[in-house]
Amino acid sequence: MTFGVRLERVRAGYGQGDVLHDVSLDVAAGESLALLGANGAGKTTLARLLIGLVRPSAGRVTVGDWDVSGRRPDELARRVGYVFQHADHQLFARTVRDDVAFGPRCLGLPGDGVAAALEELGLSRVAGAHPYDLPAPARKLVTLAGVLAMGAGVLVLDEPTAGFDHESRELVVAALRRRIESGVTAVVVSHDLAFVAEAAERIVVMREGAIATDRRARDMLRDEDALHALGLGPPPAAALGLRLALSGSPVRIAECVAALRGARWTAPAV
Ligand SMILES: Nc1ncnc2c1ncn2[C@@H]1O[C@H](COP(=O)(O)OP(=O)(O)O)[C@@H](O)[C@H]1O
Ligand SMILES: [Mg+2]
Repeated sequence: MTFGVRLERVRAGYGQGDVLHDVSLDVAAGESLALLGANGAGKTTLARLLIGLVRPSAGRVTVGDWDVSGRRPDELARRVGYVFQHADHQLFARTVRDDVAFGPRCLGLPGDGVAAALEELGLSRVAGAHPYDLPAPARKLVTLAGVLAMGAGVLVLDEPTAGFDHESRELVVAALRRRIESGVTAVVVSHDLAFVAEAAERIVVMREGAIATDRRARDMLRDEDALHALGLGPPPAAALGLRLALSGSPVRIAECVAALRGARWTAPAV
């Protein structure tokens, strides 16, 4: 099943005034959205609203036909998979395998999704290890595997690739793309634009608890001024496409390769 996600005029905070001010956002079923914005802009707060960890003080949050406020956490977990910004807030079991298996077991799901998720994220080799014996990026992959194994129709991932090398990022991109192609809705908080380019079709920028920008990812990732205002620059494939004025406005590596293959290029005579 696949579900859209909607915030309608939402205000939310942590008791001392609102952190989010009148935020409305519609993410269609099967859409992939990246949330950008400076530290403290409210990205994590928005992400936590989608799983009911933060409750709106006004307005409404819905996932499909469910008002999030009226649902228990275990019900919501069937629809929304959430990867915490800090993996260490999410991990608790003694082995990687047990940690990944916990969610599916609570939902009464068959265990085969666990082995598949471990394999998909390159964790099979460390399935017996203690999560805290792994480096930070691998711990993040463990939390992601746990969420993927639950098979939710909506994935909310808070900085899923922070500190990742290319290889680990590619594992997450591939896993997420498979889900998106099968209709899963994805909301990812990320400043890793190489990841955003490969995984998101739409970008929303938050500023001071409100939505400042809502654009096609392809347009935003090629807009150097807009990215510089966030202290960012175009991801590598987009940067190359811009410098070489490649056709098709590539932002993904495969698009850039295709555009380069198609470009007529003649070596200078000397
Ligand atoms: N648990 C909390 N208690 C009180 N204030 C918080 C808490 N979490 C976040 N905030 C505040 O809410 C604002 C938005 O934070 P957050 O949603 O984490 O932003 P972002 O993820 O964009 O960095 C910040 O001013 C932050 O200090
Ligand atoms: Mg955050």
